[in-house]
Amino acid sequence: MFVVNPFVYFVKVGVVILFLVGILQDPSPSSTSSSWTSSFSFVLVQPVSAYDNGLGLTPPMGWNSWNQFGCEGLNEDLVQDIAHAMIETGLYDMGYRYINLDDCWQTKRNSSGFIQEDITKFPNGIAKLAETIHSMGLLFGLYSDAGIKTCAGRPGGYGYEQNDVMMYDEWKVDYLKYDNCYNLGINLHQRYQRMHDALNSTASGRPIYFSLCEWGDDNPATWARSIGNSWRTTQDISPSWESMMKLTDINNQWWEYAGPGGWNDPDMLEVGNGDWTLQEQRTHFTLWCLMKSPLLLGNDLRNIPDDIMAIISNTEVIAWNQDPLGKQGYRRSQHKVVMTKDQEEIESSSSLLEVWAGDLVDGKIALVLLNRSDKEHTITATWTEDLNILDENKKMSIRDVWMHTDIGIYQQSFTSLVPPHGVMAVELSPWKNDDDDDDNVVPTLIE
Ligand code: GLA
Repeated sequence: MFVVNPFVYFVKVGVVILFLVGILQDPSPSSTSSSWTSSFSFVLVQPVSAYDNGLGLTPPMGWNSWNQFGCEGLNEDLVQDIAHAMIETGLYDMGYRYINLDDCWQTKRNSSGFIQEDITKFPNGIAKLAETIHSMGLLFGLYSDAGIKTCAGRPGGYGYEQNDVMMYDEWKVDYLKYDNCYNLGINLHQRYQRMHDALNSTASGRPIYFSLCEWGDDNPATWARSIGNSWRTTQDISPSWESMMKLTDINNQWWEYAGPGGWNDPDMLEVGNGDWTLQEQRTHFTLWCLMKSPLLLGNDLRNIPDDIMAIISNTEVIAWNQDPLGKQGYRRSQHKVVMTKDQEEIESSSSLLEVWAGDLVDGKIALVLLNRSDKEHTITATWTEDLNILDENKKMSIRDVWMHTDIGIYQQSFTSLVPPHGVMAVELSPWKNDDDDDDNVVPTLIE
């Protein structure tokens, strides 16, 4: 798939607008460089304005039925049990709120064009289920499609946006995921705009989180911020290292476009599903938190093994995801593996060792050393090249957010051994006692 590099996109648009603004504002050949500069910065800093519905100021957290239960497994009892488990396991206390039904809750439209729930799956109806979920202090989400059918062949929303939103409003739906199947080739922007307009004019005025799911087909990061609160940047995830890393790479291209009110969505979490290593699942969760991805659990919350619970309940990593600055972390550098063979050093053909980082509030930095190889390796992040810290001697206090321990005060760089398919995830905070005598600093850790 060809994807326009966002920076290139900005520059191209910038150059065209600069040209036009330059002509319109000051056609004289003596135009000064400062007016060019101000036109240029106007273009560069003017992001697509956010869908201002007050939602998604931090990425949404919750659960969605699809990854583990698909169409067949979805029903009323399951959803109620999951909601109870969300509270009883303590996941609610860690910030998980949404209980989202994916495809297959709906079955047909009545003669007036209103959507009907599948009563074999939801005998007491969606209204009652939503009420139960809300009575528990949780939020309730539904799924539909910007086409004539959903991907599983249930009725889609296209052409019925007003009717559907009337029902969502009555049921007090909090979140809508809007898919892209059976779209008849109708213009994508137009189809998503129609649902945006309907959601934006609910009778009650109650806002509904709008999650676009057009799978990254038309580079939604570049336009969807004014339409919805998040946009899928990728095709569907599956519970494997290859799938997760592929989606990570695609999602990473759009890091500059994420921010409070609008997020890149590389699909829902697969922690606790499938047959991949715990290390890989920990890497998945760490990267999703760092990239400010929606944290929608996709596993069976009624039965969570302790080691999986330890991943999804790591409040230090969740805090990265929910950091109020809302800056998506991204890849800073890639390095080749160096091996010694016959006393000679040789490099791997691809760069499998990576440094990722993201800025947090108060000058803190989330740093992830990622080892994509299948052997243990050391990886180094440097202040100036990887972390945009201008003063390489700046002392930063470092905390391991998986081991939950402070590991010392560092300058210039940080190096760590990283397990195969694993991460070393640390948080850097500016060392407050910079003027103090260096006796207060653990000397062995200053490099
Ligand atoms: C598409 C979406 C998935 C899921 C299914 C449901 O494939 O990308 O996330 O919602 O449809 O049918």
